[in-house]
Amino acid sequence: MPNYPVEPFRIKTVEPIQLIDPAARQAAMQRAGHNLFALRAEEVFIDLLTDSGTGAMSQEQWAAIMRGDESYAGARSFFRLQEAMQQIFGFEHFVPTHQGRAAENILAALLVKPGMSIPSNMHFDTTEGNIRARGGHPVNLVIDEAFDPTNHHPFKGNLDIAKLRAFIQKTGTQNIPFGAITITNNAGGGQPVSLENIRQVAATYHEFGIPFFIDCCRYAENSYFIKLREPGYAHKSPLEIAREIFALSDGAWMSAKKDGMVNIGGFLAVRSPELYQKICNELILREGFPTYGGLAGRDLDALATGLWEGLDESYLAYRLGQTAYFGEALWEAGIPIIEPPGGHAIYLDAGRLLPHIPQAEFPGQSLAAALYLEGGIRGVEIGSVMFAYPDPQTGQMIYPKLELVRLAIPRRVYTRAHFDYVIATLQHLSARTEQLRGYRLTYAPPLMRHFTARFEPL
Ligand code: F0G
Repeated sequence: MPNYPVEPFRIKTVEPIQLIDPAARQAAMQRAGHNLFALRAEEVFIDLLTDSGTGAMSQEQWAAIMRGDESYAGARSFFRLQEAMQQIFGFEHFVPTHQGRAAENILAALLVKPGMSIPSNMHFDTTEGNIRARGGHPVNLVIDEAFDPTNHHPFKGNLDIAKLRAFIQKTGTQNIPFGAITITNNAGGGQPVSLENIRQVAATYHEFGIPFFIDCCRYAENSYFIKLREPGYAHKSPLEIAREIFALSDGAWMSAKKDGMVNIGGFLAVRSPELYQKICNELILREGFPTYGGLAGRDLDALATGLWEGLDESYLAYRLGQTAYFGEALWEAGIPIIEPPGGHAIYLDAGRLLPHIPQAEFPGQSLAAALYLEGGIRGVEIGSVMFAYPDPQTGQMIYPKLELVRLAIPRRVYTRAHFDYVIATLQHLSARTEQLRGYRLTYAPPLMRHFTARFEPL
């Protein structure tokens, strides 16, 4: 049995949860069009849909909430956040946004013109959506090891430098308004990127004069992986490592709902004063005045405190230890996952678990639905529902390489007994996977269809 880390906190507030009976779960799924996003939270027992905005805030954060300054302009809360931002990320300019995709929207509105390409290791779905919405092409250039679920490369989120160089030369710098990297790589298993790789990525972008942006919502987890795994960083703090990472970039955006330890919030940060000016103009149009950007003053204060808690070493050791426990226990039970466990989630390999269901019939959707029906557990499909799209030229469906179900772990929320319940439920389910069937879409919007699609079991 793998080790479970001792939590570096105790519990002061509780939120009741309950498992509704199997018939009620069936009825809920019918009503939801078999899309787990359409369930009511009270119909879910263990909610592993996302680690985004679902964490528990600390007593210091709740205290900070009471200090929130709700002034429209120049609030004290903004300057407390600015102080944390400067100490951790070191950018000259930043604006708060209500969450990550708002920052992506502003960046894409300002920089992406139709036909342009934005390379990254792997873009998350909202980033892809915001690039496509402006007529651009999101391009994923992660190392090949990322697509081998059993490969134990320590930094499976790395961007392939040879692929990047060839891509830039083929595409032309005039068609690449900025380059990106996602840390950790959410779309590819929550796998970390090494500092050595970030350094090479930055050098390559800069050699061609391309601004380098980091999608950094799980940067603290990534920094701790660097400390654990990358030679030369064992004695450095996650804060020191983070500073080294961001010093290499020209800007970053963050969904602070992850390592910012808050329920809502984000930012867009840049070095260029000209770009910052344009961002402010866009922000005022879409989000709010630059000292609050779509958030309440209290949210800014919760984030100013949460950013430090997300970097705390005892917290990060617990956090990554919990994910490792969960993943290793599943792996020992013979359930295929992306190995090794990443930072914020375990990714079940539905392709390997359900080899009899073709990609066109959504094996990930089938597994996610079965897990809910079996035990009231909600995960999210990260496969063809989320990422398959028709080739713009031929109309042929392009399928992702992996069919996954992500079980994301909210921060400071679930205990070992909750994980043991999920592990036992998956063990029951894996004994009868041949009975599971695929699904057919009955409704799908053109962009980010997984949120609102409806299905029918086959
Ligand atoms: N980038 C990454 C890598 C993300 O994981 C997310 C959100 C975003 C950007 C967008 O941020 O939600 O605040 O607008 N990921 C959530 C998830 C939704 O479940 O992984 P947002």
